Amino acid sequence: MSQSTNAWDEFYKQRGRVVTEPHEDMPDIVRLLKDRGASTVLDLGSGTGRHVVYLAGSGFSVFGLDNSPEGIHITRQWLADAGLDAHLQLQSMTEKLPYEDAFFDAVISVQVIHHADRAAIREVVQEITRVLKRGRFLFVTVPKLRNQGTRFKKLEANTFIPLDGPERGLTHHYFTPAELREVFNGYDIVDIHLDTVNHYCLSAFKR
Ligand SMILES: C[S@@+](CC[C@H](N)C(=O)[O-])C[C@H]1O[C@@H](n2cnc3c(N)ncnc32)[C@H](O)[C@@H]1O
Repeated sequence: MSQSTNAWDEFYKQRGRVVTEPHEDMPDIVRLLKDRGASTVLDLGSGTGRHVVYLAGSGFSVFGLDNSPEGIHITRQWLADAGLDAHLQLQSMTEKLPYEDAFFDAVISVQVIHHADRAAIREVVQEITRVLKRGRFLFVTVPKLRNQGTRFKKLEANTFIPLDGPERGLTHHYFTPAELREVFNGYDIVDIHLDTVNHYCLSAFKR
């Protein structure tokens, strides 16, 4: 399992429910999913649960997956506090996902899939595609390339591991919009835009 497991786990142990508000696009996504009669939603890399809780509270059958035990623990508590329920899975996204083919009406993944190298990301995308129903909705956000600071290890083009700072030891791959289009070439991409925290947000439907 990657080093990123421990870094996030430690962060969550120190900081608890790091972010409590859902991503700014989530209200529109919920409207879209309801209009299309979606029921099952996967939050890949669910962190401390802001989207699991928001989506479960919006009436969906929600599945959250993350490789941080503390993230899953905090999510479980948050769901209990809110009187909600969801299916949580502690594992790496780089392992085979524990869901049947074409199980989900939607997959969302906010600031997660870039925590791997190019080859692993392509395998993750294959798994996302396997578990998502044809014609159904995908929302993925990834950070825009930023300054890596002074100390980092370069693994390959656009993939770095910072050697200091809060994200020390975490693999970061930086997509361009062109690479997002290439990686998600099995999708009808309806939008790629930058959000207010400088992440590319991709909205797409599986072909
Ligand atoms: C920036 S946080 C985003 C969390 C959540 N999606 C949100 O928006 O609040 C990145 C998350 O990715 C998770 N993560 C990193 N590598 C992972 C992996 N290989 N498998 C599963 N989760 C991973 C971390 O544990 C962390 O919860």
